[in-house]
Amino acid sequence: SKTKLLDQLQRPLRDLRISVTDRCNFRCTYCMPKEIFGDDYAFLPKNELLSYEEISRMVEIFVSLGVKKIRLTGGEPLLRSDLRELVKKIASIDGVEDLALTTNGLLLHRYGKELFDAGLRRLNISLDALDPKLFGTMNGRGIEPARILENIDYAARLGFEVKVNMVVQKGMNDQEIIPMAEYFKDRNITLRMIEFMDVGNDNGWSYDKVVTKKEMLQKLGEMYELKPVDQAYFGEVAKYYRYDDSTAKLGFITSVSESFCSSCTRARLSSEGKLFTCLFATEGFDLRALLRSGATNEEITDAIRNVWERRTDRYSDERTEYTAKHRNKIGMSYIGG
Ligand code: GTP
Ligand code: 5AD
Ligand code: SF4
Ligand code: SF4
Repeated sequence: SKTKLLDQLQRPLRDLRISVTDRCNFRCTYCMPKEIFGDDYAFLPKNELLSYEEISRMVEIFVSLGVKKIRLTGGEPLLRSDLRELVKKIASIDGVEDLALTTNGLLLHRYGKELFDAGLRRLNISLDALDPKLFGTMNGRGIEPARILENIDYAARLGFEVKVNMVVQKGMNDQEIIPMAEYFKDRNITLRMIEFMDVGNDNGWSYDKVVTKKEMLQKLGEMYELKPVDQAYFGEVAKYYRYDDSTAKLGFITSVSESFCSSCTRARLSSEGKLFTCLFATEGFDLRALLRSGATNEEITDAIRNVWERRTDRYSDERTEYTAKHRNKIGMSYIGG
């Protein structure tokens, strides 16, 4: 029988976040600034990406090590062709208790239905502002919020459990906190406000640009009666609150002001098959090399076990202005959040 797999800080391995592409149709200023991700940016060629067969095999192996939650991300995952095929494969794997997808939502009118039919039930959709000019600036492509809002409604109508992610940046979109809360409260959709993080190496992050959960709650408190909701499961990332007059919830993701590393059960698989044990890691373990060298499932399992057993990551507990600027972190669009 299997011995319990724990890292150096006694954390089990429960979630796998899989990036299926490093490409995106947005250029969010805090993630893929267009000055860096320009027309000549070298994205990964197709043969460098894990195939759906390879990803499914990895999922089976991770499940055997204790993973129960799978999340598909990117870049923008809806840009990967035939994504429904991957969803079908993963949804049919025994032991996958939860399968979800994080997307900017732009292509949901095209792929929402087939993904639902393939077995996907949960969507986290990013939207940072309702103001068209501001949202256009933040997504770097002038995309109108109305297009995302329509797709959010469409996804909800299809039967998806939808949550909305809003990255809050001081001096950028903090004036959108109340309008966004109001809009999604009315629609009975869970909105999560995310503290701006120092992902990658040049997203312009500094402490000055973070609006903490405490500050957001202060602002929201002038309008709403909010009560904390108990954590739903060990290691849940967001902290949720309930309105007194609605069944909608409001969540906060507090990687900066109240880090949650001590219960972090997440591994990340990049689109080229590297295993990362932290969103802020500096290097990954090359699982693709192992896969493509003809390794057996047992050999791959042992390799992952080894990586996890050595894991000491707790970046958000240790973050300083210095690490934010000088640590050579992998990018968000590459690893998928
Ligand atoms: P749910 O299962 O629906 O709660 O999803 P989730 O919140 O784990 O995933 P999502 O992709 O929607 O991510 C929301 C935000 O949380 C993003 O900004 C992620 O980067 C951030 N996030 C998720 N996991 C971690 C983590 O382990 N560490 C840090 N620092 N941030 C994380
Ligand atoms: N800080 C916080 N959240 C971020 N995201 C992307 N970059 C950052 C950042 N610097 C969010 C996206 C998406 C999720 C996967 O991560 O908006 O909702
Ligand atoms: Fe694309 Fe999401 Fe990054 Fe925006 S945050 S550039 S939508 S991957
Ligand atoms: Fe996990 Fe790293 Fe995020 Fe901490 S900073 S919660 S260790 S991914």
